[in-house]
Amino acid sequence: MNATKRVTLKNGEILNIRRVVVEDSSEIIEYINKIAGESENLTFGPGEFKNTPEEEKRFIESINESDNSLMIVGIIKDEITSILNFNSGRRNRIKHVGEFGISVRKDFWNIGVGKEMMNYLIDWAKNTKIIKKINLMVRKDNLSAISLYKKFGFEIEGTNSRYFKIRGKYYDLLYMGLKID
Ligand SMILES: CC(C)(COP(=O)(O)OP(=O)(O)OC[C@H]1O[C@@H](n2cnc3c(N)ncnc32)[C@H](O)[C@@H]1OP(=O)(O)O)[C@@H](O)C(=O)NCCC(=O)NCCS
Repeated sequence: MNATKRVTLKNGEILNIRRVVVEDSSEIIEYINKIAGESENLTFGPGEFKNTPEEEKRFIESINESDNSLMIVGIIKDEITSILNFNSGRRNRIKHVGEFGISVRKDFWNIGVGKEMMNYLIDWAKNTKIIKKINLMVRKDNLSAISLYKKFGFEIEGTNSRYFKIRGKYYDLLYMGLKID
């Protein structure tokens, strides 16, 4: 499944979703630095993502060489507006399970970009015949993300208290998972 998927969003914009390629490296770093300051729901803040374009290229290569990991970009008008990164284990006993993280540029929230990125992930996971479980971690008060995951059938599997500490305040984390059959 390497082809670009094209969908029309709620607001009429066209979203193209495809796997990342090494040529995306610099734009991905720019993108991550932007979204780092757009919400406090990620594990990093502004200036904390330190990968160089070379490191990012090697990361993309390793994902694209793997049959049980996936990194996709959502593109609107030639600009990366979303990234979803799903990573699985290499060892036999944990090859069937992976965890993903997703982000969307704030200007494009609530028009269905996240939903389409998740659709792509789940279709891909079913197609691999390897992936049998998708996991994620989410801040307990990130209601839009939790509502999105629940719509796809993800269930809450546990809590990790005090996982985040932001400006002196603690926030709990939820573990969520979806079985793939
Ligand atoms: C979470 C995130 C990926 C969602 O992406 P998105 O493109 O806005 O998602 P969608 O538009 O497909 O769906 C969002 C849904 O949440 C709903 N929603 C928004 N705010 C909500 C709230 N406070 N409570 C409940 N639901 C809410 C929207 O109405 C929408 O549902 P609908 O399609 O039924 O209308 C995006 O907000 C984001 O990148 N946030 C910052 C980073 C982040 O939190 N990443 C996830 C870390 S686990």
